[in-house]
Amino acid sequence: MIKVQDIVYVAHRAPDLDKHAQFLTDFGMVETARTADRLYMRGAGTYPFIHVTEKGEPGFAGVGMLAGSAAELDEASRLPGASAIEAIEGPGGGQRVRLTAPDGYRVDLVHGMTLVDPLPLRAPLPVNFALQKQRIKSFQRPDHEPARVVRLGHCVLKFNDGDAGARWFQETLGMLVTDRLHVPGDQASTLGNFLRCNRGDRPADHHTIFALHTPGDINVHHASFEVQDPDAVHIGHEWLKEKGYKPAWGVGRHLLGSQVFDYWRSPWGYMFEHYADGDLLTADMPAGDYPATDENLAQWGPVLAPRFFESVVVD
Ligand SMILES: [Fe+2]
Repeated sequence: MIKVQDIVYVAHRAPDLDKHAQFLTDFGMVETARTADRLYMRGAGTYPFIHVTEKGEPGFAGVGMLAGSAAELDEASRLPGASAIEAIEGPGGGQRVRLTAPDGYRVDLVHGMTLVDPLPLRAPLPVNFALQKQRIKSFQRPDHEPARVVRLGHCVLKFNDGDAGARWFQETLGMLVTDRLHVPGDQASTLGNFLRCNRGDRPADHHTIFALHTPGDINVHHASFEVQDPDAVHIGHEWLKEKGYKPAWGVGRHLLGSQVFDYWRSPWGYMFEHYADGDLLTADMPAGDYPATDENLAQWGPVLAPRFFESVVVD
């Protein structure tokens, strides 16, 4: 059985690679390769790339997820509608099988990419808590810089049928429902399912895919990238504000997943999130079920931005 182990990359289409490279650099990624119609960006972690920009009309192009083994790639290639095993054309090489999730989302199952050395990253800031001091004769002086993305953490997709979308990730990629969100006052109506990778006893992020139920509104909602710590989220916020980008919601702390979050719009209106300090769970954790109230979206932070659930906001 296929059990994806991680999310590796996300791909958007944009008409101007230079402009997207500038945004992604200010967001905290590092350009690693470019062709006439592809831009590859990496994080400070070990994947050779975590974001691909495909030159074209603005849009969402898909995600890449890590197969548990080469045998799983083989198994995936025999699924209905799957591609053959193909070479990945980006840096790091490796192989992929291209799958199609409900509503036409492209999901690449990948294996065998050559990992890269991590980039230098400032150490986590040691915090002096009220009753627990750990920093004596040393100072908090983090650099003023972009939020130095380490890795892609999750991607949120909108489906005509949110349960069908979640089921596909469970049945095809072996993912587990961590928490379900339902319509407040109507527990039978799903609003979304947070899905994590089944890594057995190895902890996995609270969610790697979030499948939203939004009939008639099919698009990515956002892609989310992990940074070192909450200070990096805040420093990154200041950097993007100074550069004139458009904030979408944040800084706050989510309830489900517990991440300190900050959402921004790309030059073409797509949402990118920075996060730090998210929850990790092993496979034995039973699923939760929560009403989709504002209190269950964030435990603190600004009032929910009115256009937060729109996939693309350009004005
Ligand atoms: Fe998120």
